[in-house]
Amino acid sequence: MATSEFPTQKEGSEAFLQETTVVVFVLGGPGSGKGTQCPKIVEHFGFRHLCAGDLLQAEIDSGSENGTMIQNFKKEGKIVPSEITVKLLQQAMQQSDNKRFIIDGFPRNEENRAAFENIVRIKPEFVLFFDCPEEELTKRILNRKQGRVDDNIETIGKRLKVYFESTLPVINYYNSKGKVQKIDAQRSIEEVFEDVKSAFAKLKPVARVGINEIM
Ligand code: ADP
Ligand code: C5P
Ligand code: MG
Repeated sequence: MATSEFPTQKEGSEAFLQETTVVVFVLGGPGSGKGTQCPKIVEHFGFRHLCAGDLLQAEIDSGSENGTMIQNFKKEGKIVPSEITVKLLQQAMQQSDNKRFIIDGFPRNEENRAAFENIVRIKPEFVLFFDCPEEELTKRILNRKQGRVDDNIETIGKRLKVYFESTLPVINYYNSKGKVQKIDAQRSIEEVFEDVKSAFAKLKPVARVGINEIM
């Protein structure tokens, strides 16, 4: 807060965003079904879906000054510096009328998690975790056929290593806070969504949530 008695316009809008926003992080290995389940959550529960990987891809496609660097990180299965990803997420959140977000593929590591907490200053309501064995992840990614630069056997190995070494610790962190809803993702899309629905049903309906109750 500024020294003045009144918040600046920026501080005021940030505070408003923090008070009225609901965030659910959606995590799981590459190919675990995050991008398949999120549109169903949007349809059933009215959230806005933000996919960190898609926002980064949009930066590449737009020819932005960071595009080449992001593309190189993606090809290597590496995690892009958090400052870039968090800025993209924050912009998308500020531009959205809908203030209930499912954020897919984020936070991927401890640096992502801390940066979001320090910059956006919103804690997730819960973390949806799609648990899926490595063999199934590899099989699904190789069958994805969407022309992604990172869906090849060499990059998949690197992405899985990053997932086990950097993302699982973040999931464990949230688990230690009692925030993880773990879902067995090695079943049909419909069966997985049944469990997803149960996880979201525990949230209070938005119409009955007062601003002060959310935080
Ligand atoms: P993620 O976003 O977690 O990387 P996707 O949702 O893109 O994963 O899914 C990876 C691939 O696996 C896609 O081709 C998708 O159609 C397929 N897929 C997703 N969920 C299932 C499932 N429950 N069973 C079988 N295939 C699935
Ligand atoms: O989630 P998705 O598989 O689409 O992510 C693709 C790639 O985008 C990752 O392998 C990584 O290079 C980058 N990414 C990132 N940080 C995130 C999410 C994705 O660097 N939080
Ligand atoms: Mg995805």
